[in-house]
Amino acid sequence: MKRVRVRAPGRVNLLGEHTDYAGGLCLPLAINRYVEVTVEKRDHGVRIETSLGVHEATCVEPCQARWAAYVMACCEMLGIEGGFALRAAGDLPMGKGLGSSGAYTVAITSALAELFELEVDRVRIAWQAERRTGVDCGILDQSASALARAGHALLLDVARGTHEHVPFAGRIAVLATPSSRELVSSGYNQRVREWREAERRQREGIELGETLRRRVEHIERENQRVREGVQCLRNGDLAGIGQLMYASQRSLRELYEVSTPELDTLVERARGAGALGAKLTGAGFGGAVVCLLAPQASLALEGALILESAGGVNCS
Ligand code: GLA
Repeated sequence: MKRVRVRAPGRVNLLGEHTDYAGGLCLPLAINRYVEVTVEKRDHGVRIETSLGVHEATCVEPCQARWAAYVMACCEMLGIEGGFALRAAGDLPMGKGLGSSGAYTVAITSALAELFELEVDRVRIAWQAERRTGVDCGILDQSASALARAGHALLLDVARGTHEHVPFAGRIAVLATPSSRELVSSGYNQRVREWREAERRQREGIELGETLRRRVEHIERENQRVREGVQCLRNGDLAGIGQLMYASQRSLRELYEVSTPELDTLVERARGAGALGAKLTGAGFGGAVVCLLAPQASLALEGALILESAGGVNCS
């Protein structure tokens, strides 16, 4: 029976946080932590096996367990009704803001598209599949996991639907908060709704009010920081992009209100330990902090994980 194995990386985001669903700019980097998915054809039915459990069904149908619901959502988007067994594993921490859901949906979509020989836009299908599970997310995580190139950051322009690889010479460390969190039950969807409301009011010439004004200010300035950050990378100015990351964190805390005291503390510890830059990565509301270091530097902090940049999803 035909068998396909796929490895999809997680990501950190240097700059461009909460800008993707607003059609903005993002600057992620794929990391050498992966979700691995193996799929095999079967005569009928669906079998899903992960470290969290096993789910068997006679056909693709909605289910409660999120780790299985992602698979069902990808199948619905791909138009697959069953006839496969899927196993998922890997070393990418889940629920830490490292793009695990994005990597998982990219791995599932790529594996099933390969198995059933479907010519589809894997990034968009994986993105829409995650949205079907109840998170009204943007396309950042799936794009990073599918399109990244080792040794480069990925400049995404969501409104234009374009991307560019920008050479990255720095070093990345991640500091995770102890607890995991699920975006579906965080304030993430509320932030997306706020943005839509702000957009509507701007279109209709209605006053934004204090909260929405702050949200819009974050997004506009964050897009500008991505532009400046790319320029810094091109000029070999790691200290410059580091400063932009600290400014992004301040904005995420004060204007967008998605940081937590734990994340703020980790950022300040990283600053104290000499990181060139540090900020929360991903949605916030918990999760992890990405730190930027000089090429040979390390970070003398407990739990600091030094990571390598990675290339996008890979099928074998
Ligand atoms: C999560 C979402 C992304 C993006 C980030 C915030 O990771 O999945 O689409 O919105 O949060 O930048």
